[in-house]
Amino acid sequence: MREEGICVAALVVCLATFGCTSKEAAPAEPEPAAEPTPTPEAAPSEPVAAKDPAVEAEEIFKARCVTCHGEKGKGDGPGSAALNPKPRDYTSAEWQKSVTDEHIEKIIIGGGTAVGLSALMPPNPDLTDKPEVVAALVAVVRNLGNDQ
Ligand code: HEC
Repeated sequence: MREEGICVAALVVCLATFGCTSKEAAPAEPEPAAEPTPTPEAAPSEPVAAKDPAVEAEEIFKARCVTCHGEKGKGDGPGSAALNPKPRDYTSAEWQKSVTDEHIEKIIIGGGTAVGLSALMPPNPDLTDKPEVVAALVAVVRNLGNDQ
């Protein structure tokens, strides 16, 4: 009977110890689980990877540039009639030769005033952190120059 009592006591101590340990461990666990923050870091690269910059550039060109620069980049879009100066004609080989890709990137992001041209060429500040889309837009402008 005595031995049984000791055994039960030992069991109780044992359970209490384990019970205690697991209770201590339990609240400690959610913390490291909630800690990993690389998720927000990885997030910005996802939309970029999700959409091909070339596709996005084509869409942006159709949505924002064609109005003034025209479907074929001749500077004859429906919105161009009232503009003075006229939007640039991308199909001019002379103009294509006279500008660098960097210059075109700059005017796309900063607008005409960023390169000392007319404010009628609007800025696209939302593309500042999308260099690959801007580069693809430059390619669109260059391709229209080759298309003639
Ligand atoms: C509201 C009309 C308008 C829209 C929209 C517009 N542009 Fe222009 N753009 C102009 C005008 C006007 C000029 C000529 C500015 C000048 O000669 O002073 C111009 C000039 C340019 C030039 C020539 C710069 C140079 O040095 O000759 C490029 C390249 C250009 N635009 C690209 C774009 C792109 C790409 C878009 C779309 C993201 C766009 N533009 C949207 C009006 C517009």
